[in-house]
Amino acid sequence: MRSCNLKTTIHFEENALSRLASLEYKSVFIITDPFMVSSGLIKTVTKHLDSAQIKYKIYSDVVPDPSTDKVVSGVAALVREMSPCLIAVGGGSAIDLAKCVRLFAHNLHADYAPHFIAIPTTSGTGSEVTSFAVITDTKRNIKHALIDDFLLPNEAILDVEMVKSVPASIAADTGMDVLAHALEAYVSTESDYFSDMYAEKATSLCKHYLVRSYRYPQTQEKKARDKMHVASCLAGIAFNTASLGICHSIAHQLGAQFHIPHGRANAIVLPDAIAFNSGIAENTFSLDNPAPCVSKYANMSRRIGLIGYDDVACVKSLAYFIRSMQIEMGMPISVHDAAPTVSFTEYESRLDAMAEAALLDRCTKTNPRTPTKADIIKILKKIW
Ligand SMILES: NC(=O)c1ccc[n+]([C@@H]2O[C@H](COP(=O)([O-])OP(=O)(O)OC[C@H]3O[C@@H](n4cnc5c(N)ncnc54)[C@H](O)[C@@H]3O)[C@@H](O)[C@H]2O)c1
Ligand SMILES: [Zn+2]
Repeated sequence: MRSCNLKTTIHFEENALSRLASLEYKSVFIITDPFMVSSGLIKTVTKHLDSAQIKYKIYSDVVPDPSTDKVVSGVAALVREMSPCLIAVGGGSAIDLAKCVRLFAHNLHADYAPHFIAIPTTSGTGSEVTSFAVITDTKRNIKHALIDDFLLPNEAILDVEMVKSVPASIAADTGMDVLAHALEAYVSTESDYFSDMYAEKATSLCKHYLVRSYRYPQTQEKKARDKMHVASCLAGIAFNTASLGICHSIAHQLGAQFHIPHGRANAIVLPDAIAFNSGIAENTFSLDNPAPCVSKYANMSRRIGLIGYDDVACVKSLAYFIRSMQIEMGMPISVHDAAPTVSFTEYESRLDAMAEAALLDRCTKTNPRTPTKADIIKILKKIW
């Protein structure tokens, strides 16, 4: 038996944040990215609480790729208040920190389980609808993916007002994360009808709106930002069911070792992960016994309007299309471009540890092709 459970209530489109004015709580605890406070954007959220006379406490000790020690201080702050409702406002980092803080506060006080609302301010991780949280162990340079149903938010609010201020380069990084989620969920060994449907729609939205969302605000095309915000959530639902693959396992190493932003790291790895999974090398033009993921990648490629005379050509089109989007958005396409201060000697010295950690990463389990350590090292060398 298999099950598909969509627990989070999603509020979206114009004025979605007005949901906050109908909360039945007298006080809430907000965990947010410091940028939300310094830019004043948090007021877009708190004005609805003010109008309903709901008191709030703001906690903003959040850093990109939150670490275990940030969880400890966050738990102490939340437990001091014991608020009945926790609201996370920010990108994946703020939402993941809030998820872990809530989980560990609950572990300390079994009857404390605050209502949990996630308000994403980037269109990338889909964390608002996933039971995943990624926490960095800064001592060992490892990113841990926690998976627990308790991490799943009760409500998610997708309001385009929260993503209009995202700079172009972050829109590119986070948008590529959406695409990686959708494509990895689509070929995962745990994919099913439901995850496929969400992955297909998310990929199609990326095809049409990712580069346009990067060009905002020059183009004044708010619609592109709105569509990518929904795409991020749809891809989150897809991978929450199907999980991910080695693109993420390897990207987690690049993030933990060299602080390459999560989506940027995924974009660098994605075309090579597709080539590895499908067994299609640069000089391969046909396959006698193609792996099952070849027809899935090819199907996705056709669905989003790419062309190719057979499945192999369609998969190649998909990989080229990803690279061309990266180039169009001015993104680095290699580790060397993304982390120019790292020398090859240093990179090479970490290959072994990175490959071992990638093999142990939970995302590797659902990759359509089981990699060996040598396979991961080969990909790591290729993307240098
Ligand atoms: N839980 C999950 O399911 C899941 C999935 C994928 C990734 N992740 C994790 O999420 C984290 C990455 O999250 P992210 O990509 O959203 O980035 P992020 O949350 O780290 O934010 C990136 C940068 O964008 C800024 N920012 C955020 N919102 C903004 C806005 N509206 N306007 C201007 N600037 C804004 C932040 O201040 C920060 O500097 C990583 O730790 C990654 O491992 C989690
Ligand atoms: Zn991701």
